[in-house]
Amino acid sequence: MTQSSQTLDRKREFSLSDKEFKKLTGLVHSLTGIVLGNHKKDMLYGRLARRLRDLGFQSFTQYCDLLDSKKAYEETGFLVNAITTNLTKFYRESHHFDALADYSRTLSQDPARIQEKTFRVWSAGCSSGEEPYSIASLLLNRVPSICSWDSKILATDLDTNMLATGKAGVYKADVLDGVEPQFKTDLLDNCKVKAGRLQMKERARQMVHFKQLNLLHDWPMRGQFDVIFCRNVLIYFDKPTKEKLVSRYCEKLRPGGFLFLGHSESLQSPPQDLKLLGKTTYVKTGGKI
Ligand SMILES: C[S@@+](CC[C@H](N)C(=O)[O-])C[C@H]1O[C@@H](n2cnc3c(N)ncnc32)[C@H](O)[C@@H]1O
Repeated sequence: MTQSSQTLDRKREFSLSDKEFKKLTGLVHSLTGIVLGNHKKDMLYGRLARRLRDLGFQSFTQYCDLLDSKKAYEETGFLVNAITTNLTKFYRESHHFDALADYSRTLSQDPARIQEKTFRVWSAGCSSGEEPYSIASLLLNRVPSICSWDSKILATDLDTNMLATGKAGVYKADVLDGVEPQFKTDLLDNCKVKAGRLQMKERARQMVHFKQLNLLHDWPMRGQFDVIFCRNVLIYFDKPTKEKLVSRYCEKLRPGGFLFLGHSESLQSPPQDLKLLGKTTYVKTGGKI
């Protein structure tokens, strides 16, 4: 144990040795792809201390023993939910929503697509649903013709607590704070406001399909997507994981389809088929439009 962690441990309810920290971060990495460097020790402690209390444990040694035992499988779900960072917002990085409106409007006028009448969006790492409901509200208000097609938004995340919030579609009214006025209208048109809460309306909820999916695992979806949002997720992964994911997204996009990444996730060397179109906005080559 380093001197600084000894000093911190004196103030802590549970001691967390360097060996235990290494074991936990190794497990988190293999389960989720999330990299937790040494500077994340306080964060990991803070997020797991409550779980130790709930389990009636006295130490991280007991917790690590649990993760080595036959009951580990059950516990890894709690571990993953505790470790993921779920910060999100309605209409976060709003330039992506302007680009989505333009692209979907163009598709809605494409004769081949008018015949086909399908439109698919994937919000990968959707957290508690603000991102996919932002997409649904925008499409319902601004591109209603595409919503009359077989249009679906797949919303996936690893964290089961976040997916449950998303499925319920109920948010505190302060989620509106900071949402730009033109997007606030889209959102308010698609929710009921009651007792300081926003409840997403049925038509928006019907468009969004929440599913648990670990991005590191196989993806069961058969078809390709017109648009993929994977924002503020790649930052938690190491370089090889990021690169592999981006090339898998590229395969999952229809030619001409869009990939939106988070503000600090610009690609140094994107796959050959992916061209930078605007700020963290990539387009798959080969599209007609
Ligand atoms: C910071 S949130 C981003 C939410 C939203 N995309 C946004 O930009 O507002 C990151 C999300 O990625 C999810 N996540 C992290 N690792 C994952 C993995 N391996 N598979 C699926 N989701 C993962 C987390 O659970 C979390 O909800």
